[in-house]
Amino acid sequence: EIERTLAMIKPDGLSGNYTEKIKEAILESGFDIIEEAVVQLDVERASLFYAEHADRSFFNSLVKYMTSGPVCAMILESPDAISCWRNLIGPTDARKAKTSHPDSIRAMCGLDSEKNCVHGSDSPQSAAREISFFFGDDKSEALEHDE
Ligand code: CMP
Repeated sequence: EIERTLAMIKPDGLSGNYTEKIKEAILESGFDIIEEAVVQLDVERASLFYAEHADRSFFNSLVKYMTSGPVCAMILESPDAISCWRNLIGPTDARKAKTSHPDSIRAMCGLDSEKNCVHGSDSPQSAAREISFFFGDDKSEALEHDE
């Protein structure tokens, strides 16, 4: 099924000049980039994006990281975009990615379990919410269905 997912290059990914390499990996993997926006999140917006983690011990640190510079949000479209993008970025902990998924994006540019340089929606529900968060309510569905 043709799906859309929300991909985000986090502040460390943008400031480390990995943006072009990440976009090459996206296009080589067959995703279409439907929308793209460079955005500076403030504490309120970052807290809202990560609201499901509000009770976690790392939450304040996560918000500080995510507001430390601009992020690049993208809508990616492809067959099974949600799981394909999660596979391409690798595990949350970039240190683990470097050993177990050496070809993943987090292995290339991530640092640890927090500073992992990219984000991907983990379900169709979060993809719809996260696409709306950055691009509005009418962007979460792939436009053409061959059903
Ligand atoms: P992401 O996939 O964007 O979703 C939640 C984010 O919280 C995650 O990437 C990391 O940036 C951060 N995170 C997850 N687990 C931890 C952890 N154990 N310690 C610090 N940050 C974390």
